[in-house]
Amino acid sequence: VSAEAEVRRARHQDWPAVQALLREVDELHARLAPTYFRASERAEAEWQRLLADPAAAAWVALAPAGSAGARPPVGFLSLHVYDTPADPAMVPRRRGHVETLVVAARQRRRGIGRALLQTAAAWARGQGAVEMVLSTWAGNGEADAFYERLGYRVLTRVLHAAL
Ligand SMILES: CC(C)(COP(=O)(O)OP(=O)(O)OC[C@H]1O[C@@H](n2cnc3c(N)ncnc32)[C@H](O)[C@@H]1OP(=O)(O)O)[C@@H](O)C(=O)NCCC(=O)NCCS
Repeated sequence: VSAEAEVRRARHQDWPAVQALLREVDELHARLAPTYFRASERAEAEWQRLLADPAAAAWVALAPAGSAGARPPVGFLSLHVYDTPADPAMVPRRRGHVETLVVAARQRRRGIGRALLQTAAAWARGQGAVEMVLSTWAGNGEADAFYERLGYRVLTRVLHAAL
């Protein structure tokens, strides 16, 4: 099934489809962490900044071939390349940080998330990154299962306490 997922770099005109995908992940995060997130309209200016950022890259996955008519983006991934800051206590390494990954709810479990993440990882490697890093919110079992399956392991834990 994963062979059917077509991934390409995001283009400016993908914005309406990407905006709808961001709403899905924003609504999920608002459910999981309502003291941090609320679903609100994402601004196109943010999209333009992302596409223009030389340290960032974004991809969309197109609906599998065979679906009727056009093939709108049904998955989205954005990534930033980060270098360790100049801190003598830290090992200098370049990493790829996945900022957002989302597949439309109706299109999940078809290999689209995997195809997006593999494409982003290969690109980051080409930029000199030696590791991929990302964070998930507690309670996001779907994402945990997905990343675990793809070989990702817990690196750190963030603790909090209400005041
Ligand atoms: C996480 C997410 C991107 C996965 O996308 P996807 O296209 O469904 O993932 P894939 O089909 O490529 O899954 C690859 C493998 O991961 C595992 N996996 C994926 N989703 C799973 C789930 N809900 N439960 C258990 N295993 C899962 C499976 O092993 C799967 O292979 P299989 O379907 O052959 O068993 C998608 O669930 C999503 O968009 N979730 C909401 C947004 C989100 O949480 N984003 C990530 C955190 S910011």
